[in-house]
Amino acid sequence: MRKTKIAGTGSYIPDKVLTNADLEKMVDTSDEWISTRTGIKERRIADKNEAASDLAYKASKMAIEAAKIEPQDLDMIIVATITPDMIFPATACILQERLGMDKVASFDLEAACSGFLYGLSIGSQFIATRTYNTILVVAAETLSKIIDYEDRNTCIIFADGAGAAILRPSDDNSGIISSYLGADGEGANLVGVPAGGSRLPTSLETVKNRQHYMKMRGNELFKKAVKIMVRAVDVSLEKGGLTYEDVDFFIPHQANIRIIKAVAKRIGLGMDKVWVNLDQCGNMSAASCAVSLDQAVRQHKIKKGDKVVLTSFGGGLTWASLVIEW
Ligand code: COA
Repeated sequence: MRKTKIAGTGSYIPDKVLTNADLEKMVDTSDEWISTRTGIKERRIADKNEAASDLAYKASKMAIEAAKIEPQDLDMIIVATITPDMIFPATACILQERLGMDKVASFDLEAACSGFLYGLSIGSQFIATRTYNTILVVAAETLSKIIDYEDRNTCIIFADGAGAAILRPSDDNSGIISSYLGADGEGANLVGVPAGGSRLPTSLETVKNRQHYMKMRGNELFKKAVKIMVRAVDVSLEKGGLTYEDVDFFIPHQANIRIIKAVAKRIGLGMDKVWVNLDQCGNMSAASCAVSLDQAVRQHKIKKGDKVVLTSFGGGLTWASLVIEW
């Protein structure tokens, strides 16, 4: 089995900034409430003509350049998203055409906020088994398109962005050490979009009832998040034969600063070793870990040889944790 490394990363966040002060004018909320309860100050929102594939394209171009490859070198595309351009065809196919690539396998993956880490784990299996050599994993979200800007429970949290990574066989000791994926369908009703699927197809009625927008039981999710994330970290470290002391840098899903701090405390990590961008970027679902990884790499927070843990949880419920030697 071959070890898989991340050969390059990229990210893109839209230009338009939506601040807490802007939201104060839209719903009954305050900068003080949002800042203290979530840690979010502002978030980026896609243009009305910008779809997930547009964000994915920009992040992918950066990752391809960073990995010093050409689009034609790619053997597969995995796009992690809950906000695809349309129900079908896959956003990955739209992206493949846009990148001018060969006619390689391209598919979307839906694991909500855990999508990017699910994608890295799945992609790495094809490299480990020598099926493919070069895989693009992109997480792209335009959550603003499924958010009800009259619902203060959700509109203050979610945002848009995309992050990408190129997977290649490792030529040294670096690469993915272990990964752990999990899900609990019992929590499927805690966050999601009720209408627009086969259970409740879109109709005038569903639109009138605002069922095409995301609904979230935030407080119940909050209570589960810390426990789930700590366990995911534990299992991934154990699979890699590592302990908390071995962790040099931690990239958690960016849902809430209180969740991030509680997880960091439980695993004994100072906040100087924990990546936080939710103050500027909000919760970008699958794109949160992807954008975070690219920003941390470009800002030299991660050095060669560092052991980096990426951990997420989200709708489904799903969770994932990867340990990577950089
Ligand atoms: N502004 C002001 N008040 C708000 C508000 C807002 N945007 N949203 C909710 N409130 C109010 C509630 O109505 C409630 O008022 P009440 O006490 O009078 O009933 C009060 O604030 C507390 O609400 P609650 O939902 O218990 O707050 P919370 O501390 O749990 O924070 C979240 C809410 C959503 C920020 C938090 O639960 C969270 O981050 N959950 C995790 C969400 C998540 O991770 N999602 C990602 C998975 S996809």
